[in-house]
Amino acid sequence: MVDVFVLGGTGRTGRGVADALEQDGLQPVLVGRDGDRLREVAAGRGHRTLVASGAAAMAAAIRAAGPAVVVNTVGPFTQTAGAVVDACLAAGSDYVDLANDLAATSQLLARHAEAERAGRTLVTGAGFGVTATESVVVRLCRDGAQAGRRARRVRVDMVPSLALQAGRLGDALAGTIVEGLPGVPGGRRFEGRRFVDGRLVAAPIGGAPRTLVTPDGDRVSTALMPLGELLAAQRASDAPSVESASSEAPTGALVRTVLPVATSLLTLEPVRRFAARRLAAVRFPERAAPRASSWAHAHVTWEDGTTAEGWLRLPEGQATTVAVCAETARRLARGEGRPGAHTPAALFGPDLVTSVGGEFVGGALLATAHVEGGER
Ligand SMILES: NC(=O)c1ccc[n+]([C@@H]2O[C@H](COP(=O)([O-])OP(=O)(O)OC[C@H]3O[C@@H](n4cnc5c(N)ncnc54)[C@H](OP(=O)(O)O)[C@@H]3O)[C@@H](O)[C@H]2O)c1
Repeated sequence: MVDVFVLGGTGRTGRGVADALEQDGLQPVLVGRDGDRLREVAAGRGHRTLVASGAAAMAAAIRAAGPAVVVNTVGPFTQTAGAVVDACLAAGSDYVDLANDLAATSQLLARHAEAERAGRTLVTGAGFGVTATESVVVRLCRDGAQAGRRARRVRVDMVPSLALQAGRLGDALAGTIVEGLPGVPGGRRFEGRRFVDGRLVAAPIGGAPRTLVTPDGDRVSTALMPLGELLAAQRASDAPSVESASSEAPTGALVRTVLPVATSLLTLEPVRRFAARRLAAVRFPERAAPRASSWAHAHVTWEDGTTAEGWLRLPEGQATTVAVCAETARRLARGEGRPGAHTPAALFGPDLVTSVGGEFVGGALLATAHVEGGER
């Protein structure tokens, strides 16, 4: 049996990951800040529990126990991953997190050489966010390279179909939303980003809207949203110009007018703390998934001007996050990692998502893009 620490074991994702790992014969240990909630979640499942509140306490627990793998679901990852990864490298543990913001994924990937020296594998972005669109880009660019093509321009679009469980938004998600893009070059802290000529530059959140028609025939709107997928798509394609968009991005004209004002207020620390507290307390009602499938889409323009387009069909968004994270942890527990810091599809290839129910659609080198509105 191999111990896997699941940090945030009482959370939406942590609970699902622990259950999935246990079914596979691994021994998950639920790590959280509240003993009663941990016991409640573990009841009837047989998971072990460990109380540790905050990154420093979780790091101390990892140093003391030296688990084989640590799954970190406690956002904001810009605040928790540093100390937790320090502990993993010292204790000889592999690490996987759910980060989906540009700041946290950049920070983790910057530790590549250190992880190589320690002989440990660090994986960031092991959820629907990052893994879905990255997998399409990896696959298209692998096929393109075999045909002697290099990518000049890439756009990725994430279209999660998300069911909501009734409940609070919670501190981890609220903190991740409000913490913005600390330390990411190319623009202000609460401004969007895209790659132009190989460099990160500012881009309007909600800009460059597109209407896509999924292979199921649904029309969806996406707009720029700089998440970890932006970085993963650039690394996977090596294209000088890359943009990442989401169907969850604010696209209305009013929102786009208000957003810059709201985000400039967030540069003030007390406003940010207040906003995170209010956001964490927001309760949302139960909502069924809006579409039968989630989708990830990538459009690549090669240096010779031809294009390729690919779609990846996936189950509901949160179920995909749990499955991708559990599968990544499982592979690390089996010793299939590679020392260094990686995103999931860069490490395990596009078959990581097909092993959890993903299905690629399209991907021909000269495909016609199903895109309306705006130039490429
Ligand atoms: N990449 C992706 O596609 C993707 C998808 C989903 C989520 N995420 C990210 O993953 C994170 C978790 O999402 P979720 O929906 O699972 O959130 P969640 O249900 O709120 O779970 C978060 C967990 O973290 C724990 N936690 C929060 N602050 C803590 C602290 N200071 N010390 C110890 N534990 C603490 C919570 O414990 P309590 O029970 O005590 O509150 C809970 O167990 C978020 O940051 C979110 O942005 C990424």
